[in-house]
Amino acid sequence: MDQIVIRGGQRLKGRIPISGAKNAALTLLPCALLTDEPLTLRNLPRLADVDGFGHLLNQLGCSTTIEGSRPEDFGRVMTARATTLTSTVAPYDIVRKMRASILVLGPLLARAGEATVSLPGGCAIGNRPIDLHLKALEAFGAEIELASGYVKAVAPGGRLKGGKFTFPVVSVGATENAVMAAVLAKGTCILENAAREPEIVDLCNCLVAMGASIDGIGTETLTIEGVDRLHGATYRVMADRIEAGSYACAAVITEGDVELVGAKANEMEATLSALRQAGATVEATKTGIRVAMSGRAQPVTLSTAPYPGFATDMQAQFMAMATLGSGASLFTETIFENRYMHVPELARMGCDIDVRGRSAVVRGVDHLVGAPVMATDLRASMSLIIAGLAAQGQTEVNRVYHLDRGYERLEEKLQAVGADIERISAG
Ligand code: UD1
Repeated sequence: MDQIVIRGGQRLKGRIPISGAKNAALTLLPCALLTDEPLTLRNLPRLADVDGFGHLLNQLGCSTTIEGSRPEDFGRVMTARATTLTSTVAPYDIVRKMRASILVLGPLLARAGEATVSLPGGCAIGNRPIDLHLKALEAFGAEIELASGYVKAVAPGGRLKGGKFTFPVVSVGATENAVMAAVLAKGTCILENAAREPEIVDLCNCLVAMGASIDGIGTETLTIEGVDRLHGATYRVMADRIEAGSYACAAVITEGDVELVGAKANEMEATLSALRQAGATVEATKTGIRVAMSGRAQPVTLSTAPYPGFATDMQAQFMAMATLGSGASLFTETIFENRYMHVPELARMGCDIDVRGRSAVVRGVDHLVGAPVMATDLRASMSLIIAGLAAQGQTEVNRVYHLDRGYERLEEKLQAVGADIERISAG
């Protein structure tokens, strides 16, 4: 298996191009199932999960073609066309490897009137149920059965009829599934307490470009007037605010000065405010966001929350940054019950972190020491990279496939701003 080897201590300086957002790409791709016309997505990141989603679309009868596949290209263009669906089943083998596969449930149900999708099961960062996905679809008229580890959803008469659903807790995935199901309903669908993440705004804007009628985009109440059919469109995937925030943390911990090219300040205010809390200089530039730091990070107090709050996907990276801070930082994880798995690995590098239930106290230490480490999820892996960039000596990050799911050409981007980092291929 590949390894990433970092010799820490280099200041990051220069420009880092920010890729298309993984979490937006994975909800835009299933939109192709909603129409028989082509959906062309630009600025798609080159990531294992995006390729995996393309394969799932192929299994359902949707063809995919990719341009811009030269290794030196950032951002690819994929055209997906589901002229006719040949299957409405997302099998266990695919769903278990890629949780985002659950996002074909809404579009298949909307287009074909039925969908059978394997239950995704638990995952490394917690329980992650899908009950709210199903309840929202039921509120719109779906009949749902669970059998042999599969969800079977049917729209009586072939079409959802509309209705109203209020989410008891904010769910990104359930909002996405519900919106994609609603756009072809025969009636009006209302979602209250819907997630407002920028990736959901991206999804809604793409659906509108395909002919959907959605009111309240970017607010917690979405009103979707079903239409008889959607058409094709060309749509550009938004910049990855989590990737941008991750490199910002790397810049701070190395006392660097980087421009995150393509990042949009208005989509990541909570992250930028947390960086300022740590003492970083943060400013919008003509082409992105500049983040610069001198001296040790000041302690931060951060609690994860749905957007516009501080993202759970940024928690591990800020924690890595805080390990070298000038005092004690306090983290509270409110979204997932088991999202501190980077802590024992960071401890191997000499940090001082005390986890108590959903909270963690990070006491800044004077230095970290490189070590062989591995993580069990994507953002946790990135926290080890961040710590490794500032640690004395060599850090070997194992299980690189997690990073390949979410960070396009990580080592190249970091090398270009001065990091001493390389990928050692296993074979
Ligand atoms: C979540 C994050 C998202 C992040 C992603 C990957 C939030 C609100 N969501 O999205 O920012 O990019 O993980 O790390 O920060 N829940 C239920 N029943 C459901 C669905 C969810 O109880 O059917 C609960 C979850 O257990 C969790 C909360 O709702 O506590 C939010 O989950 P949800 O937003 O659905 O998770 P993801 O879509 O995976």
